[in-house]
Amino acid sequence: MQSAMEHCRARVDACLTETLSDLGTRPVEQAMRYALTGGKRLRAFLVMEGAQLHGIGPDQSVWAASAIEAMHAYSLVHDDLPCMDDDDLRRGQPTVHKRWDEATAVLVGDALQTLSFDLLTRPELGVSSEIRVELIAALARAAGANGMVLGQAQDIAAETAQTPLDLAAITELQGNKTGALIEWSARAGAILGGGDPTALGHYAKALGLAFQIHDDILDVEGDIAKTGKAVGKDADAGKATFVSLLGLDGAKARAQELVDEACAALNHYGSRADALRDVARFVISRET
Ligand code: IPE
Ligand code: IPE
Ligand code: MG
Ligand code: MG
Ligand code: MG
Repeated sequence: MQSAMEHCRARVDACLTETLSDLGTRPVEQAMRYALTGGKRLRAFLVMEGAQLHGIGPDQSVWAASAIEAMHAYSLVHDDLPCMDDDDLRRGQPTVHKRWDEATAVLVGDALQTLSFDLLTRPELGVSSEIRVELIAALARAAGANGMVLGQAQDIAAETAQTPLDLAAITELQGNKTGALIEWSARAGAILGGGDPTALGHYAKALGLAFQIHDDILDVEGDIAKTGKAVGKDADAGKATFVSLLGLDGAKARAQELVDEACAALNHYGSRADALRDVARFVISRET
């Protein structure tokens, strides 16, 4: 699985580098390249593995994989801004607003978001206009005011909430904040292949939640040298997380349950989906 993820990363990095070679060297353009560098490329991997299961090879799926990584990179640039989480370090490097300035970081996020949709319109994706529109519409909804943006707003509101969020509210928040883009990633392959995305959607719902629970665990017991981002921020900000509600052991147990659920959702693919099962297990054991 590790080598499959590395292979995916190389494909996505090459695709993004080629795409960005059309851009110049103005600060926003340089900072876009910077923000797109690094990361585990987990969402890209979900796209490409899901696509493979539905008969779509990497030459095509890499465009959708790159699109979701551009969307994700935008969300991180804005998430780190002083008015959001106010972070100085991302992927082991200074955040965009630290390396450049806040206005540049806002604009880089904006431009990465439109780049994401642009990538889905590229002819190399090789699918019909109907499928393209379906993917683009699904991404717009996943990233927007009822998806990731809603989750970010709920996350910020939770910092100052009078009463701490309960399990149901945190599950909803995290489903929006992190789950929506992960769900799009897993479902994209089936959509590209004209197949039924239901099973991959169930897989991703459980996986997305496990992923965010583990992110919250890393915020408590992670090592900045490995995560490449500050730790201890959620507790400092009084953020509601699975860890704040269930404790570390409870959160770990819940993440494991969710990974088992995610794997079970793939039954109908048999052993062809083993890479997706491996990545689910990786999500809750990773140190980065
Ligand atoms: C971090 O996502 C932000 C969350 C949604 C929790 P990742 O852990 O996937 O970040 P990268 O892309 O590997 O840096
Ligand atoms: C970020 O969640 C989610 C999005 C960017 C949409 P976090 O704020 O928990 O992510 P990290 O911990 O900064 O990577
Ligand atoms: Mg945040
Ligand atoms: Mg953050
Ligand atoms: Mg976090």
